[in-house]
Amino acid sequence: MQELRVGIVGAGGIARARHIPSFQKNENVALVAVADVSSEALERVKSEFGVPTTYTDYREMFEKEQLDAVCVCTPNKYHAPVTIAALRQGMHVLCEKPMALNAEESRAMVQAAQESGKILTIAFHYRHKGACRSAKRVVEAGELGDVYMVRVLALRRRGIPSWGVFTNKDMQGGGALVDYGVHLLDLALWLVGNPKVVEVAGVTSQRLGTRPNVNPWGEWNYKDFQVEDHAAAFIRFADGGAMQLEASWALNIAESVENVSISGTEGGLDVFPFRVNKAAHGMLVNWTPTWMPGEQDEEGTRQTADFVDAILEGRQPVVKAEEALQVSQIVDAIYRSSASASAIKLCD
Ligand SMILES: NC(=O)c1ccc[n+]([C@@H]2O[C@H](COP(=O)([O-])OP(=O)(O)OC[C@H]3O[C@@H](n4cnc5c(N)ncnc54)[C@H](O)[C@@H]3O)[C@@H](O)[C@H]2O)c1
Repeated sequence: MQELRVGIVGAGGIARARHIPSFQKNENVALVAVADVSSEALERVKSEFGVPTTYTDYREMFEKEQLDAVCVCTPNKYHAPVTIAALRQGMHVLCEKPMALNAEESRAMVQAAQESGKILTIAFHYRHKGACRSAKRVVEAGELGDVYMVRVLALRRRGIPSWGVFTNKDMQGGGALVDYGVHLLDLALWLVGNPKVVEVAGVTSQRLGTRPNVNPWGEWNYKDFQVEDHAAAFIRFADGGAMQLEASWALNIAESVENVSISGTEGGLDVFPFRVNKAAHGMLVNWTPTWMPGEQDEEGTRQTADFVDAILEGRQPVVKAEEALQVSQIVDAIYRSSASASAIKLCD
């Protein structure tokens, strides 16, 4: 099989937990180098994963390594500049989520991908989970009829990231919404076919993150907490449907909850746990699968395989850059709506 030379930029938590092992496992890939500004991070991936070559400057890695593809795992601030540089030098890119700090940067990334003719995909790995792929098949088969309502919940009772730069506005662009909410927002939009968005109304708040609090995810610096810990939004689609979204890192609720729930004229479904809700034969019935394909597959491995296969087969990846741009546009509109206390029109 053809072997792709792959490099990784950013050797932190997600590179170690997901991307380095997934690329090393893929038989069509040679993971040849990793770049990070931190020598300590590079030493760690050298010893843990036996990465052959490391660089403290990704530009040097791009010049010297003749890479076919790059995986961008830096803080959000660097997603756009690193991705655009890689695309312009002829590399395909898998970039971590969120796509960038804002929609403007995301649009520049899409443009760079179009100009280069290379693949750009974003690590919205939820799409590769077994339950999400099953949900997609059910919706696409028309089982739900005309879909008109989508509810999205990404709520942690307490789960503020305590490592890295997640609570730094300049580095990340936002908090719970861009870190956690975007996964479920992207999933929900994809499940219902990325309908055109007409209007967004949102409220973001910074309530529990700025004072000492219980946090099973570790100690974070509450004195320098610069982002939102909660976001809520109502999104109106051009086809008459709507989406309701809530995302949090810390919220006073009984239990953390993560779900996309879709309602149509012929039925509904919940993704986590997966079930389809119907009215049939004079009964209200909920069906749940006793087996689903891909249930045991690890979504990180699947995400890497999709990126690699898209390159080798010359096809689109599951997560298209234009779809990730739509997520960025909605996120921007939520922040703008909250700041201006008014709904934001995205189109007529
Ligand atoms: N898909 C997911 O579920 C998921 C989970 C966690 C993190 N992420 C995303 O992955 C990215 C990184 O998160 P993380 O948890 O690995 O953070 P991290 O802080 O653990 O790692 C980031 C690494 O990037 C390095 N870095 C910073 N600036 C750099 C630069 N200019 N060039 C090269 N390296 C640079 C840092 O030194 C650090 O080692 C973020 O965008 C985050 O949103 C995604």
